Amino acid sequence: MLTIDRTAVIDWYERNRARSRSIFDLIDPAAYYSRPIALRNPIVFYEGHLPAFSIISLLRRGLGRPPVDQRLEDLFARGIDPDSVDSAIPRSGAQTTWPSRDGVLMFADRADAAVVEALKGAEFQPDALEELERARPAMERAQALYTALEHEAMHQETLLYMWHRLPYDQKHKPAGVTYDLGDLSWLPSSGGKRTIRIPAGIATLGADRARVTFGWDNEFDEQQVQVAGFEIDIHNVTNAEFMEFVNAGGYAEKLLWSEADWEWLAQERLQHPNFWRRRGSEWLWRGMFEDIPLPPSWPVYVSQAEASAYARWKGRRLPTEAEYHRAAFGTPSGAERQFPWGDAPPDTSRGNFDFQSWEPVPAGSRPAGASAWGVHDLVGNGWE
Ligand SMILES: [Fe+2]
Repeated sequence: MLTIDRTAVIDWYERNRARSRSIFDLIDPAAYYSRPIALRNPIVFYEGHLPAFSIISLLRRGLGRPPVDQRLEDLFARGIDPDSVDSAIPRSGAQTTWPSRDGVLMFADRADAAVVEALKGAEFQPDALEELERARPAMERAQALYTALEHEAMHQETLLYMWHRLPYDQKHKPAGVTYDLGDLSWLPSSGGKRTIRIPAGIATLGADRARVTFGWDNEFDEQQVQVAGFEIDIHNVTNAEFMEFVNAGGYAEKLLWSEADWEWLAQERLQHPNFWRRRGSEWLWRGMFEDIPLPPSWPVYVSQAEASAYARWKGRRLPTEAEYHRAAFGTPSGAERQFPWGDAPPDTSRGNFDFQSWEPVPAGSRPAGASAWGVHDLVGNGWE
C-alpha cells in the first residue's frame, strides 16, 4: 500500500530548493544570461525551470490545482535542451525575452509557497491516496510528487557541470573551500594488490516498478544478467597513471582509438583530458573555482573515448554495465547489496558524494565505501 511521509517530502522539497538556490548564488550576475554549454539553455532558464516543473508535475498534473503563473510556467516548461522537440511549446532561442533574476526569484517564492501549502494540506491517508490515484493518473504511486523531487536533484548535477565550464571570474568561490589532496606520494600502483578476480555470477540491472518508490523510465524493468568471471582494477585510474598515457603519445596513436573517436579527437583538438590545463611545463587541474597543481592521486576525469583508448593502451578494456554492477553490488554469497558497502545509508566515510566537495578526493581514500570484493569508489568521486 502506498504511503507518503508528509514531513519527509516537505523536508526533501525544501532541502532541494535551498541547495538549488546556493548553486545559482555562485554565479556572477553578468553570467546569468550566458549559455556555458552551447547545447544547453542559458542559466536563467534553469532557475525558473525547477519551480515551474514542480508546479506542472505535482500541483497541476498530480493534484489538479491551477497554475501559479501560466506565462512563466510556459516559458520555463521546456526540456533540458533548447532543441527538445515539443510541438505544443515554442522553442527557446535567441529571441526569448527572459525575466530579471528578481522576477525569477519572485516566481520561485510563489511556486515554493504553493507547493509547500499543497503538501501540508493534501490528503495522504492510504484511502485518500488510492482515490487520488484513481482520479489522477499522474498520481499513480505518487509519481507526480517523486518526479518533481527527483527532477530537481538531477538538475543540480547537470547545473554543476555547466558551472564548471564558466570562467572563474563569473563564479564566487564560497568561503572555506578546501581540497583533499591526500598523501601526494601515494599511488594505486605503489601498494600491493591492483586487480581482483570476480567470479561468474548474476547481476541485477534496472528496477521493478512495484518495489521502488521512484525510477526514471529508462531504469525499468528489472533484469538479471549472467556475468562471466572477469578481472577489474580495485582503484580508479588516477591523473598520475593517465599522465603516462599522455606522455607516451596516446593522444597521437591512431590505433588506440575507434574511427569515430579519432575523428572527434581531431575535431576537438584534444591532447589531454579536458579537466587538465598546461602552463609551461606544469600541469594544472581545472577546478570549479580555480586552477590548482594537478593532484596525482585524484581519479582522472575523461570521456568514454579517452577511457577506451587508455584501456586499449594497457591491453585491457572498460567493464560492461553488468560487470560494473557485479563489481559494485554483488557479493561472494550471490546476494546483491543496495550500495557497494552494504545497505547502510551513504555517509562521508563511504564516498565523495552529496555536495561534500567541489572536486574529487584521492582514489581509494574512502575504504569504508569499498564493495564486497574490495573495489573502491564505485559510487561518488566522479560524474558517473
Ligand atoms: Fe528538467
